[in-house]
Amino acid sequence: MSIEGPDDLEMLRRIGAIVARARDAMLAEVRAGVTTAELDEVGRDVLVTNGARSAPQLAYGFPGWTCISVNDELAHGIPSPSKVLREGDLVNVDVSAELDGYWADTGASAPVGTVAPKLRQLLWSTREAQAEAMAVARAGQPLNQIGAVIERKAKKHGFKVVRTLGGHGVGRHIHEPPHVSNVFEKRDKTVLWEGLVLTIEPFLTTRAIDVIEADDGWTLRTPDGSVGAQFEHTFVVTKDRPIVLT
Ligand code: CO
Ligand code: CO
Repeated sequence: MSIEGPDDLEMLRRIGAIVARARDAMLAEVRAGVTTAELDEVGRDVLVTNGARSAPQLAYGFPGWTCISVNDELAHGIPSPSKVLREGDLVNVDVSAELDGYWADTGASAPVGTVAPKLRQLLWSTREAQAEAMAVARAGQPLNQIGAVIERKAKKHGFKVVRTLGGHGVGRHIHEPPHVSNVFEKRDKTVLWEGLVLTIEPFLTTRAIDVIEADDGWTLRTPDGSVGAQFEHTFVVTKDRPIVLT
């Protein structure tokens, strides 16, 4: 969506703050021995307390309140009481929700205890790629610079970008146009405009450039078992710095 007035911004700030709080509350509980169902409950509590509804549930009938993906799972992992986090894992929580017709989306990856140096670097590089991409997302600039920045960052640090996953428009629904590619799309001539509400969510891995759907019909994981990380924010495009809502 595009912001048309102060009410739009206010409502987006509200739902943005809720999903951010849920994300941070979940991340604060990440430790060895915790199940992904327990993490999901922490996220659910924040959403319910604030009157928000889970976006994946509402839009797609997802069997959980939030998506929690571990190691070679990159997205749409189903929270489960039998899935226990272990020291050395990377876990990703992705929280998206709706309040009064406004939607926001955020995600973050985190280490469980001490992780291998390469995975620490993967986390850092992915977070940096997300931040640097948001910094070039200004009104009047080409949309495809976002993917260019992410691709460059990944390459520089020896990581790969998953080509089939990307950011998106958001605000009046969870997934709106335009698609925000995480790689440079030469033929995309879209120019960003003031007030556009977007997510940027790079998925970097140690090896894979795509994902496959697991047997559960939801989870997207790397075909080769390589580990991935994702960071995501919802923000408003301006002529200057983005207004980050999450
Ligand atoms: Co998300
Ligand atoms: Co998203």
